Amino acid sequence: MRIDILTLFPEMFESPLNYSILKRAQEQGIVAVAVTNIRDFATDKYHKVDDKPYGGGPGLVMMPGPHFVGFEPVAKLGSRAPTGRGRPARESRAGCPRHGRVILLTPQGQRFDQAKARELAGEDRLILIAGRYEGFDERIRIGLNAEQISIGDYVLNGGELAAMVIIDAVVRLLPGALGDEDSAKDDSFSVGANNHSPLLEYPQYTRPEVFRGMKVPDILLSGDHAKIAQWRRQQARERTKQWRPDLLESRDESSS
Ligand code: ADE
Repeated sequence: MRIDILTLFPEMFESPLNYSILKRAQEQGIVAVAVTNIRDFATDKYHKVDDKPYGGGPGLVMMPGPHFVGFEPVAKLGSRAPTGRGRPARESRAGCPRHGRVILLTPQGQRFDQAKARELAGEDRLILIAGRYEGFDERIRIGLNAEQISIGDYVLNGGELAAMVIIDAVVRLLPGALGDEDSAKDDSFSVGANNHSPLLEYPQYTRPEVFRGMKVPDILLSGDHAKIAQWRRQQARERTKQWRPDLLESRDESSS
C-alpha cells in the first residue's frame, strides 16, 4: 500500500511514522508513506494557502489552487512502495481511480471506526488531505472526488492527528505488519469468525502470576484451550455489556 498525506505541517508526521509497527512496516515494504507540503504548491510569492470566506464569517478557508496543483503529481504515482516490494500499480479502470481513495479529514466526515479501517486496509492507495483553519473550500471535496472522514465528534486544530490515527489503525491490519498474523484478530472491535458484531477485547494477563495480591485467573493457567476460549468470549461479552452497551444493540444475542 502507498499512503500520501497532503498537509501544511509535514514535520508533525515525522515522529509517529518512525516508531514501532509503522516504522517496521515501511522498512519491510508493506507500506510506503509520503508527505507533501501543500504550501509548496502555492502560486503567489507569499505562499498563501488560505483566504477569507466569501460571504463573510470568522477565520480562513483553505484555497483550492494549492490543493489541486499539489494533488495532481501525487495522484499520478502508482501504489508500489519505494522499496519495490509493494503491490504493483493498478491500471485505472472505471470507478476505480489509479490513485485509490482520496480522503479529507474533517469533523464533518463519516465517523472512522474499525470497519472503516478494514475497508481502507483493502486499498492499494490512500491520499489523505489534512485541513486547517475553518476548513476546505468546497471545490476541493467536489473536484478531487474526495470522501470525508472524521475521527470523532470533536474539533481538532487540524486534520493531521486524524490522519495519523487512520494510518496507525489501517497499517496494523496490513498482512505482515504485526509480527503475529493473528494478533489483530482478537483486537477490540474485531468481527468474530461468524461475523458477529464487534466486542471489546477480553482481559489479558502476563507474568507474574501474582502481582500485589492480584492473581491471574486459574482458567488461564489450566492449559485447557477450549475452556480458555470460552472464558474469553464470555469476558468479552460481559465487559462490552458493562462498558459499551451501545455495541451490543445491533448484535444478535441468540448467536453469541
Ligand atoms: N479536523 C478537525 N477535527 C477533526 C476530526 N474530528 N476528525 C477529522 N479531522 C478533523
